[in-house]
Amino acid sequence: MSESLHTVTTMPAARQPGCPFDPPKELIQAREHGPISRFPFPDGHQGWLVTGYDLIRSILADPRFSSRKELMGHHPLVDYGDIEVPPAPPGEFLLMDEPQHGRYRKPLVGKFTVRRMRLLTERVEQVTAEHLDAMEKAGPTADLVTAFAKPIPSIIICELLGVPYEDRGSFQDNIDKFLGGEVGDEELIAAYTATQQYLAELVAAKRANPTDDVLSDLLDSDLTDEELRGMALILLAAGFDTTANMLALGTFALLQNPEQLAALRAEPALTDGAVEELLRYLSVAKQFARVALEDVELGGQTIKAGSTVILSLHTANRDPERFTDPHVLDLRRQEGGHLAFSHGIHQCLGQQLARVEMRVALPALVSRFPTLRLAVPAEEVGLRPETADIYGVKSLPVTWDV
Ligand code: HEM
Repeated sequence: MSESLHTVTTMPAARQPGCPFDPPKELIQAREHGPISRFPFPDGHQGWLVTGYDLIRSILADPRFSSRKELMGHHPLVDYGDIEVPPAPPGEFLLMDEPQHGRYRKPLVGKFTVRRMRLLTERVEQVTAEHLDAMEKAGPTADLVTAFAKPIPSIIICELLGVPYEDRGSFQDNIDKFLGGEVGDEELIAAYTATQQYLAELVAAKRANPTDDVLSDLLDSDLTDEELRGMALILLAAGFDTTANMLALGTFALLQNPEQLAALRAEPALTDGAVEELLRYLSVAKQFARVALEDVELGGQTIKAGSTVILSLHTANRDPERFTDPHVLDLRRQEGGHLAFSHGIHQCLGQQLARVEMRVALPALVSRFPTLRLAVPAEEVGLRPETADIYGVKSLPVTWDV
């Protein structure tokens, strides 16, 4: 092992005050030392932290690294001791390898293509306009999270899956609990169980009375109800909290970079590039883990079979060897290839949907409210903690001139 190998001793629990959009400084410093560092987990497991863009991309494409839940016994922030992690329940394919993963992903791929998602544009425009109208009527202040960022992706994923939006009380808060990083284990398990229960009832209801949606389409296959419930859980959990946080944190980032905001408002042609740049810059799905299935030589190191490797997508998206001035939000940036949607077999299934939602909602918001600004000082905006799987703002108080 090389002598200069850097060790990160603890995972940061918070970002630097005043830098809500940047990865914690310990992760940036780790990348400055090199693309891979040692990371002793709180339970004593000797693992790795990867922060370099090229190395992360190659691990994500490498079948010698696994996403299997039962291999993920080590938590970067908590010492759970020697607990045995069970395999992912049927259908929860984010935490599976091939061939199980493909059994669930394959039937979904055709339902989330660029073409299918573009056909949804009109509906996203309609839902966005309704929410902007309501915000304007109730204004001139609003919490952008509840008035805009959460409901738009939530309504769209519900419609796609065939989940009644009126039922959102049964899953929205629970999903917030899974991904928001602020509740203890007991509450987390209760939230997960309640969502599973809700989705089991929903699948049974579709079986009895199929409707025109993704879940009902899947009934006509050899997938069991238990598998369908697991797939629905992954789609629902991944399908709105991520985009909701991108919309809210993205608006916050634009408000903090007024010249970029003005450019987006003035030049609609910037929209597609602006969305990609916000995805890179904010990387709300900030890190994932993989476990080596065999000894692997990487970046001059031997990753031993069974080692857990944390992949900091956010830090990779700020790698100066890949992106010029990586810490600058530049909506005109021409460098593509960010890893905000990951890479390899688990690359985000819903990325085209997320893109359509952001490309419609963000420009519509900034053009509807030309004087939009924060209603509180920036340092008072409530941020999700680093323990959250998906980073973002808890609320974003905004105001505008009438
Ligand atoms: C801006 C919003 C979004 C971001 C940043 C995001 C990010 C990600 C990332 C990083 C992964 C891969 C995790 C890994 O490599 O282990 C992923 C997987 C996934 N995402 Fe997204 N996502 C977003 C929106 C959505 C939406 C709208 C859906 C709706 C269907 C969705 C569905 C999924 C699914 C099903 C997977 C699992 C794919 C697999 O394991 O094969 N995502 N997402």
